[in-house]
Amino acid sequence: MTRTIKIFDTTLRDGEQCPGASLNPEEKLEIARQLAKLNVDVIEAGFAIASQGDFDAIKAIAQTVKGPQICSLARTKKEDIARAWEAVQYCDRPRIHTFIATSPIHMEKKLSMKPEQVLKIAVDMVKYARSLCPDIEFSPEDAGRSDPEFLYKIIGAVIDAGASTVNVPDTVGYTSPWEFGQLIENIIKNVPQIKAKKAVISVHVHNDLGLAVANSLAAVKAGADQVECTINGIGERAGNASLEEIVMNLKTRKDFFGCETKINTQEIYKASRLVSNLTGMMVQPNKAIVGANAFAHEAGIHQHGVLRARETYEIMHPKDIGLTESKIVMGKHSGRHALAKKLKDLGYELDKDALEKAYQRFLEIADKKKEVGERDLETIVAEEIYVVPEDYKIVNIEFKSGMKLKPEAKVVLTYKGKEIKKTANGAGPVDAVYSAIKQLTKVKASLVDYSIQAITGGTDALGEVTVRIKDKNKIYVGHGADTDIIIASAKAYLAAINRLLYATTARQ
Ligand code: KIV
Ligand code: ZN
Repeated sequence: MTRTIKIFDTTLRDGEQCPGASLNPEEKLEIARQLAKLNVDVIEAGFAIASQGDFDAIKAIAQTVKGPQICSLARTKKEDIARAWEAVQYCDRPRIHTFIATSPIHMEKKLSMKPEQVLKIAVDMVKYARSLCPDIEFSPEDAGRSDPEFLYKIIGAVIDAGASTVNVPDTVGYTSPWEFGQLIENIIKNVPQIKAKKAVISVHVHNDLGLAVANSLAAVKAGADQVECTINGIGERAGNASLEEIVMNLKTRKDFFGCETKINTQEIYKASRLVSNLTGMMVQPNKAIVGANAFAHEAGIHQHGVLRARETYEIMHPKDIGLTESKIVMGKHSGRHALAKKLKDLGYELDKDALEKAYQRFLEIADKKKEVGERDLETIVAEEIYVVPEDYKIVNIEFKSGMKLKPEAKVVLTYKGKEIKKTANGAGPVDAVYSAIKQLTKVKASLVDYSIQAITGGTDALGEVTVRIKDKNKIYVGHGADTDIIIASAKAYLAAINRLLYATTARQ
C-alpha cells in the first residue's frame, strides 16, 4: 500500500536561521502563501519567542494562510511555549514544536543536566504545551548522537504526555543513511507507543556531510511518516534536507519507495525562485531539481537523445516542477493585458498597482533588450513587487571608468521626496557608486557580500546583483536588476539600505 509522507516545511524557521537569510514579516507571509500553494502539510513559521518580528510573522501567517497546519518552535520552557501558543492559536490547526537536547555532549556541555532531569522537563513541558494546544511535536535534539536506549525512553514518555508527533533530528548531520535508517527502524521496534501508531514519527536532518536528503529518504524507507525540510535546502550551516529533492525522489521513484506526498510539485520552481529572491541565497546552477542547469542538455549526444526520446536523459519532466516550456517571448510591443496573462501563467496574480509598476519596469527593459523572457519577468516581479517602502530612490546615476581614468560616479537620489546628490571616486565604478550612496545615506552598515548573475544568456542579458549588508549583527539583503550592471549594483545596494532603514525605524 502506498504511504503518504507528511511534508513539514521549516524554511521560515530553520531555513531562516542560516546566515544572511533574514526575512521581514511581509516576506515570510509571501513565502507562507506559496508554501500553502505547494500544499505542504505543516509550515513551521518561526520561533515565536526569538523576536517580535518572528512573533508577528507567525501570527500573521496563522491568521491568514489557509490549508497547512501552522507551527511555532519553542524550547521546553514555559515562557517559550506560552509565546508560541499566543502566535499560532489563530489558525484552524495550530501546532507547537518543542525540543530539548538528548545527546550526552549536549546534555553535559550545553544544558549541564543529567538525563533524568532532561526527561522530566520534556514530559512536563509537553504536558504544559498540550494543555494549551491540541497538537504537539517533540524533538530530542541531536538524536543522531544520542544513546538509543535513552531515546526510546524519552520518546515513549513524551507520547504518553501528549505529543502526537515525535521528530528525530540529526542536528549536526553526523549520521550515514544506513545508520539513520536503522535508528528509525529501532525506534519503531522499541517504542511501543510508536509501534501502536499513537504518534507520527518524523525526521529532521542537517546537511553537514551532504547526506541530509539521503538520510531523510533512508528514514522514510525505514518507516518515518513525516520529513522536515526547506526550500532549496537552506538552513543552519550546510542547510537542511531540501524539500524539492525529497518530494521529487518520492515521486520519481515511487516504484522503489512506495510512498507519495500531497505536494503540488508544479509549484516547486516558483517556490524556489521566491525563496532565493527574498533571502538572497542563490541557487547553484547544478542544484538538483531547481538549478538553472537541472534540465539543460549541453552535450550534443544528450541533445540528440532527448530530441528523439526525452526519457533517454530526462527522468523527470520540467513541467512537473512548474517549469513552463513556452517559448513565447514578450517584447516592447506587448501590452499590459499580455503581461498580466503571462505573469498569471507563471503563477503571479498582481493587483492593479503592482501590475502597473511591473509593466513600467517591463517597458524599460524591453526597450533595451530584444526579448524579455520568463526569468526576466520573474526578476521584475521580485524586484518591483516584493520591496519595502523606499526612503531613498534613485533619480540618476552617471559614472566614468576606463583603463586610463580614475573611476568616478555622480549619484542623484531622493530622500523622502527631496533630491540629494554626491560625486565620489572609487577603485572601480561600483566602488565609486557605493561610496557616493554611502555618503548620501550616512548608513554605516558594512558590505559583506556582493554577487552578480546574468538572468538569461547574451550580452544584452539582465544582470541581477544581490548584496548583503551588515549592521549591528543583522544582515539585510538587496536585489537589483538592469541591463547595466553598475545600475543593477546601485539598485541592489540601495534596496538593502532601504530594508535596513525599514527594519530599524519604521518597524520599531
Ligand atoms: O536541528 C535541530 O535539531 C532542530 C530542532 C529544533 C528540531 O532544528
Ligand atoms: Zn535543525
